[in-house]
Amino acid sequence: MNAVLKDRVGRVAVLLLGMSSLVAGVWGGLVRLPLNLPLPANNANWITFHGPLMVCGFLGTLIGLERAVGLRGYWTYAAPVLTGAGAVMVLSGMMGHVPHLLITVGSVLFWIVTLRVVKLQPVPFTMLMSAGALTWAVGNVCWWADWPVYRVVPWWIAFLALTIVGERLDLSRFQKQSRWSQPLLWIALVIFGAGLVLSAIIQIPGERLLGLGMLALAIWLGRFDIARRSVRQPGLPRFMALALLIGYAWLALSGLLLILFSPLSSGLRYDAILHSFFVGFVFSMIFAHAPVIFPAVLTLMPIFTPRFYVHVALLEAGLLLRVAGDLASAQGLRQWGAILSAIAVAVFLLNTVSAFVFRPQPVKGKAKVAASPSS
Ligand code: HEM
Repeated sequence: MNAVLKDRVGRVAVLLLGMSSLVAGVWGGLVRLPLNLPLPANNANWITFHGPLMVCGFLGTLIGLERAVGLRGYWTYAAPVLTGAGAVMVLSGMMGHVPHLLITVGSVLFWIVTLRVVKLQPVPFTMLMSAGALTWAVGNVCWWADWPVYRVVPWWIAFLALTIVGERLDLSRFQKQSRWSQPLLWIALVIFGAGLVLSAIIQIPGERLLGLGMLALAIWLGRFDIARRSVRQPGLPRFMALALLIGYAWLALSGLLLILFSPLSSGLRYDAILHSFFVGFVFSMIFAHAPVIFPAVLTLMPIFTPRFYVHVALLEAGLLLRVAGDLASAQGLRQWGAILSAIAVAVFLLNTVSAFVFRPQPVKGKAKVAASPSS
């Protein structure tokens, strides 16, 4: 087996670790709605650990893998392998502190990986991503120390929000910046960071400030992100930009709901705040970036077909129904909305895999160019 193929097989294996958490997490979430669905061997971990499976097992592993691919050195893969393996232990029904510990150690290692990236490239976007990794590790230490999930959630929100803002800064850095862009971003980040830290000490004022920070970041992204321009271009740029702009609207709504309905604890409002962030903002970002990120991880060219609009439309429509159902205490609406979102995830996986399988074959003589990730 040549080196490129060997690397690809290893990456696909780590990707599958993360994907297993996605499947178990979404299934467990549906049962938790509640929907009357079977669970493998009555394994209640899929329900109890729905949140950790989605955030740490799926997203953390995927982001850790993406970062490891960008760096030389096999040690960087230890982070996604540990978080993915810990999550697989959770979903296979294992109890106790060992799986939590693996996930926590994996996230600390991931933070160290991001510090290495900062050392190589000491610029604001790498620092922001590293701050995001640190908040994930802090949240996981608290989770491992038996904090309830709803107190850990602000740290997980910070992990994903800072990582995504960092990624967007990276991708927007070649466009001409307004002189207000940087100072306004720092103001939003200071509000967000202060809210996060305060939320661990005095929950309600802290969470309200965090919500304000989320709202400020959403407005900043909506105003200064390159998506506002690329939405006018056809094909993949427009697809990505539309999904991004919709995601920013969900981030704003989630921040607003957190300001209005703090404290985070449980129930319908909790569901609305969390999922407008995790499904609306984070999954819109994943759907937007997937045509570029998955191929990059596998060292292939970007993929795009207009079919990708189907999974975005299903996700957004489902979430609209779900959040409306949450806010109006309409259980049926909420359940149908969540089912639509789960279908959107399945269609997304199908569309992505089929786009890889049925990708246009490179013209003879250009095969080398098509296989290169940098082209
Ligand atoms: C179709 C997809 C999904 C369904 C059906 C679903 C369902 C649920 C339900 C019913 C709850 C309980 C809410 C409550 O306490 O009243 C919940 C909580 C939660 N969900 Fe989801 N969810 C989905 C997607 C996601 C995604 C994509 C993420 C993260 C990326 C996520 C993260 C969380 C977290 C962190 C919690 C809090 C868990 C806790 O307090 O123990 N969910 N979800």
